[in-house]
Amino acid sequence: MKKNIGPVNALYPMPVVLVGAMVDGRANFITIAHVGIFTLETISLGVNRSHYTNRGIRENRTFSVNFPSDGMVVETDYAGLASGKQTDKSSVFEVEFGPLKTAPMIKNAPVSMECGLLDVLDYGNHDVFVGRAVNTYADESVLKNGVIDLAAVRPMLFDMFQRKYWRLGGPFADCWSVGKNYAGGKK
Ligand SMILES: Cc1cc2nc3c(=O)[nH]c(=O)nc-3n(C[C@H](O)[C@H](O)[C@H](O)COP(=O)(O)O)c2cc1C
Repeated sequence: MKKNIGPVNALYPMPVVLVGAMVDGRANFITIAHVGIFTLETISLGVNRSHYTNRGIRENRTFSVNFPSDGMVVETDYAGLASGKQTDKSSVFEVEFGPLKTAPMIKNAPVSMECGLLDVLDYGNHDVFVGRAVNTYADESVLKNGVIDLAAVRPMLFDMFQRKYWRLGGPFADCWSVGKNYAGGKK
């Protein structure tokens, strides 16, 4: 029997990303797990308004979303412990820029999205930034037949329940395919 554990947000695991923004003229990175897909083209970030990064995203209307590999766990956790308010995080990662100029990206993250800001939703003590990727960069080592291969990316997943980082297991079925074997379905 299932027990009612209260209004717990049970949507974990979530991917862990490093969001980059220019704040006070320097690159700042924040660790974010409350990241979502609004539509195929648009994404959301839930960022507490107390954080340093928010002002940079608002001012420049640009940001980056970088996917660290599991080997970057120490730096990733650090970016989620230290605030740019007290600590200059601009040298934690090697930074590069794309055509947007104000969305600092992490050179050794295997995948980076260079994003434009579309909207800011005022959500209690959070800014929900809605944006879209203008360019997405993937290291050649994580591309398989021209698309991103998650086995090569080795992304990190965030578990709020146990406060742990997880790795992916492996794929086990084909989407829009395995369901065709449903015994009660139409052929
Ligand atoms: C794994 C992890 C996930 C986090 N996810 C979020 C999140 O989704 N939203 C948020 O506002 N803060 C999140 N944080 C907290 C911020 O990363 C942290 O407060 C950071 O120091 C803020 O940096 P800044 O002040 O330089 O912007 C997370 C921290 C960690 C370690």
